[in-house]
Amino acid sequence: MADRLRLGVNIDHVATLRNARGGALPDPVRAARIAEKAGADGITAHLREDRRHIRDADIDAIMAAITIPLNFEMAATDEMRRIALAHRPHAACIVPERREERTTEGGLEVAGDDTRLAAYIAPLTEAGIRVSLFIAADPVQIEAAARIGAPVIELHTGAYCDFHAEGDFAARDAELERLVDGAKRAADLGLEVHMGHGLTYDTVGPVAAMPEVAELNIGHFLIGEAVFVGLPHAIAKMREMMEAARG
Ligand code: PXP
Repeated sequence: MADRLRLGVNIDHVATLRNARGGALPDPVRAARIAEKAGADGITAHLREDRRHIRDADIDAIMAAITIPLNFEMAATDEMRRIALAHRPHAACIVPERREERTTEGGLEVAGDDTRLAAYIAPLTEAGIRVSLFIAADPVQIEAAARIGAPVIELHTGAYCDFHAEGDFAARDAELERLVDGAKRAADLGLEVHMGHGLTYDTVGPVAAMPEVAELNIGHFLIGEAVFVGLPHAIAKMREMMEAARG
């Protein structure tokens, strides 16, 4: 069993709200500080190529404002690697990115791109950044991640959460099985296992209960819930549910 299940709070959507009006408010740096105080174990921020939410200057400001680790989500491009190497966050999570998508839709294709990705992540690892690969719970991708020397994978929980929201519980449970099997396979290969995407109070339990999982990264739901109950309350409740599921 991974020691303590960590919660990474993704603050991208505070920046989405800010950018909707231009200007500086609401401030994602303030959200990062509040999240830390409320019990987040890390802050996650995705600097997308189109800068639709987090911007370059946010990265420095967030890192200066928090004492917990920053998990920097990034596409596998030269520009993003230059930025990661300049800032040296604790972790970098490599995600696939398409401009037309609303959010990260699928997992990274590691198996078909292993030579390039191995060379891509090597300088990040050498700089002391803990690299994770955001992938589907597919044994082929999990094995490829281990082969290229990534220490961490993050398994995509989006399909599991979408099926739950649609009320297709048979499909949801099949996705959950894939995540359970994927987490076991990854742990057998010596990978640290994270999970995230689309998680809510309704879907977090079975994911948090998997003993191999070391970290969950949750954003959109927490920021949305914060509109009604405040960010500290939303984070504290998520933490409680994670811990209850862990037993
Ligand atoms: N993990 C990764 C790799 C992501 O790309 C995202 C979305 O930015 C998340 C977790 C968080 O997803 P959500 O905002 O749906 O909770």
